[in-house]
Amino acid sequence: TVTVTTPHEGTRRVELQTGTSLMEGLKDAGIDIAAICGGACSCATCHVHLDPARMADLPPAGPEEQELLGDLDDYRPDRSRLSCQIPVTDALDGLSLSLAP
Ligand code: FES
Repeated sequence: TVTVTTPHEGTRRVELQTGTSLMEGLKDAGIDIAAICGGACSCATCHVHLDPARMADLPPAGPEEQELLGDLDDYRPDRSRLSCQIPVTDALDGLSLSLAP
């Protein structure tokens, strides 16, 4: 279960299934996340800000993700990730995140 804050819907708790990506899990839960490229790591519209204290629990961003993130206006090195590049595992349990503006 993660806690998600969105600009229009406020904060809700979302149950995620392992074996998907964070982006897919959020979409399945009805969260309005654009994810235009469908998880191909090319659009950056699945950008999320994570609780900085939990960043180290996740597999690090690869070079393509890092490059896309670095070009974003609301990139925050201590909390930005592309949600399509984060596999859902137990490591996400209890995580707080918000959709980037
Ligand atoms: Fe396009 Fe994540 S969905 S980069």
